[in-house]
Amino acid sequence: MKTVTCTAPVNIAVIKYWGKRDTSLILPTNDSLSVTLSQDILHSKTTISASETFTSDRLWLNGKEEDITKNKRMHNCFRETRALRAAFEEEERRHGREVAPLSTWKVHVCSENNFPTAAGLASSASGLAALVFTLAKLFDLSTNMSYLSRIARQGSGSACRSLFGGFVAWEMGSEADGSDSLAVQVAPESHWPDLQALICVVSDAKKGTSSTEGMQNTVKTSPLLQHRIKEVVPARMKQMKQAILDRDFETFANLTMQDSNQFHAVCLDTLPPIFYLNDTSRAIIKLVHEYNNASPDGKLRAAYTFDAGPNAVIYAPKEHMKEIIQLVAHYFPGAADGSYFADPYRILQSNEA
Ligand code: PMV
Repeated sequence: MKTVTCTAPVNIAVIKYWGKRDTSLILPTNDSLSVTLSQDILHSKTTISASETFTSDRLWLNGKEEDITKNKRMHNCFRETRALRAAFEEEERRHGREVAPLSTWKVHVCSENNFPTAAGLASSASGLAALVFTLAKLFDLSTNMSYLSRIARQGSGSACRSLFGGFVAWEMGSEADGSDSLAVQVAPESHWPDLQALICVVSDAKKGTSSTEGMQNTVKTSPLLQHRIKEVVPARMKQMKQAILDRDFETFANLTMQDSNQFHAVCLDTLPPIFYLNDTSRAIIKLVHEYNNASPDGKLRAAYTFDAGPNAVIYAPKEHMKEIIQLVAHYFPGAADGSYFADPYRILQSNEA
């Protein structure tokens, strides 16, 4: 028996991925870019054991066993990593070296999040990234992250970006086999330590429309998505990368808010429409714009972004974060109760604000 444990962090996109051009290989319709949050704070921790005595692959998620017989995406990750392991074993034997036949052994996977899974944070991204990275370690595979990101992508699209820290782009690629659809690091976390993120848990209810189902309906029915992927995202990706390299918060903030708004506009343009934001989300959007409008030097001080749910992530330079936490706690006392306030480096509980 061999056992390995690894952790992987959560990432929050500032240029959103929404739409697949190939649903089984998980190839996106546009490039995307995200910020990885500190894994000291929010992470998935995965332990995998492989043994010749195990009779089936099994998964325990947050202590409860899940039925994975029909979980195609997990099986994609098992299949891809086992194929690489089998090639490695063959190579070792060819050189006369002994190697355990791990590629033929079944695995038991135990995964847990150190944050409430119900909070609607990006647990599938960290969970699938942790799964693939732990399998790679277990099987002694090369841990080239871009290479592994192609496998993590097949578990959950956004998971490919969680293999890197800092600022990460998922390049959509153009090959039909997905070989060039992978994640690359734009800049490490140390590049912009002044940038912080605040996660406001507006609701911990499960989202009504899953991202898989929502994306497919959007691809089928939204003319706005076609405009977005052709006319908007390519230029926005270039501008966003440059803004990150220049630590230009003004451009970063404008692009982040515009992209979140266009993603939710695309959801509304879907038939039937998808509503992820609620009244509290919209009130947070207004609050951030009012806070920016009141800026003494006219410079933006905060930017919001929302994924497929009502919870807000607010990015801001460190110097403004304390004030933003106080504002959010003041206007949304209920929301602040259960909120996790995170930045790429540490987490602030609401009572520390
Ligand atoms: O990877 P999925 O299927 O959970 O989709 C994630 C989609 C968004 O979170 C809305 C955007 C993104 O780029 O992460």
